[in-house]
Amino acid sequence: MTTAAEAPADLVVDFDIYDPALTTPVDTVQQRAAELAAKGPVVYSTAHGGHWVVTGYREIHEVMRDHETFSSYPNNLVTTSAGFGKFIPIELDPPEHTGYRLALQPLFSPVRMKALEESIREVVNELIDGFAGRGEAEFISEFAHELPARVFLALMDWPLADAPLFTEATDVILTGVPGGTEEESNAARGQAAFSMFGYFQQVLDDRRANPRDDVTSQIITSEFQLSDGTRALTDEELNRMFFLLLIAGLHTVQGSLAWSVIHLAANPEQRQQLIDDPDAIPAAVEEILRIEAAVVPGRRATRDTVLGGVPIAAGDQLILLLCAANRDAAEFEDPEELQVNRLPNRHLSFGSGAHRCIGSHLARIELRLALEELHRRIPDYRPVESEPPVLHASQVRGCVRLPITFTPES
Ligand code: HEM
Repeated sequence: MTTAAEAPADLVVDFDIYDPALTTPVDTVQQRAAELAAKGPVVYSTAHGGHWVVTGYREIHEVMRDHETFSSYPNNLVTTSAGFGKFIPIELDPPEHTGYRLALQPLFSPVRMKALEESIREVVNELIDGFAGRGEAEFISEFAHELPARVFLALMDWPLADAPLFTEATDVILTGVPGGTEEESNAARGQAAFSMFGYFQQVLDDRRANPRDDVTSQIITSEFQLSDGTRALTDEELNRMFFLLLIAGLHTVQGSLAWSVIHLAANPEQRQQLIDDPDAIPAAVEEILRIEAAVVPGRRATRDTVLGGVPIAAGDQLILLLCAANRDAAEFEDPEELQVNRLPNRHLSFGSGAHRCIGSHLARIELRLALEELHRRIPDYRPVESEPPVLHASQVRGCVRLPITFTPES
């Protein structure tokens, strides 16, 4: 493994994606990412025992497409103390990964996505009903957190009333204990994960005892071609898969909704285009995804290799700053600028290769419907200046608090 002493001296930096100081002001991560990118597409950070930080568009693409040289395990720089094992399927490499990925397909089929669309619009409007007459809202707790939590439950065919159960657990899992030590945060993460597993196990026990005509029952009872033969998934595998779906689908969408508000309020002329022409919204969604990629995937080198001209040793850990790749001037013109009509827009926010986000269609639907309804109902939203957004760093970046004001709906 490469140590800081062995890495090229001009590429050694002190950058910790989990550092709470990266969250204020809102563009701190992007500024730091730009500084790292200016040193080169691949730099070495001393944080977390030493790891590489990849910022170049081409290099990140290369890593994500070569799962033989760059394993997805471990994907996280920090681990829970509880040792729950690998997240499925994200921390498995092909061919082991393939069967599990197929097991998830029924959840995300185009027919299912289409069917969900109507209920998602209903949820969006119900949530907006809750604050539209007031002229102000805390956008995260009243909208951006609730929407993906309820959509996740609808996706799984689980009761919408259970949404609050997820709120605290998923926040702790991602952000740890604000102001706490790394140990305290890890212990809290372990405990929160444990309570989620308890919930999943109840669902599994219930569906095994009373199979229904729903997608969860379908996944539980189907057989899949896995590396140790054709069989149904075990409870433990299902638990780890549900858990990944939950954390992959919530804070990513939450953050992207918050960034939509922040960037569009800061660019009122572009926002006006979306108000005047809702058909412009899908392209705007892509641009929001580009300018603030939420996920920072991790990989580990399985063999010695060279990336972006830098020697990487077997066993080295890497993180991929998708938010930097998406602002790589070699790929995007004026990358720092929001351009809601940007075309082409080959951003890497959903990843690439074997692990490309399986929920990307769902995420796009959620974002599009949210932007359609928000611009129809409270189009002049703006963050409250005296209470700036509270962001969080980590390998899923996002926003935990965003007070807004707007003209109340009459
Ligand atoms: C704006 C929202 C989202 C963003 C930016 C996003 C981003 C990503 C990225 C970058 C990856 C690849 C990670 C890697 O290669 O290590 C990924 C994988 C994944 N995402 Fe998403 N995601 C979003 C929403 C969702 C939603 C809504 C779901 C499901 C409810 C979801 C489920 C998954 C799953 C299961 C994987 C793992 C796929 C595999 O390993 O084959 N994501 N996502």
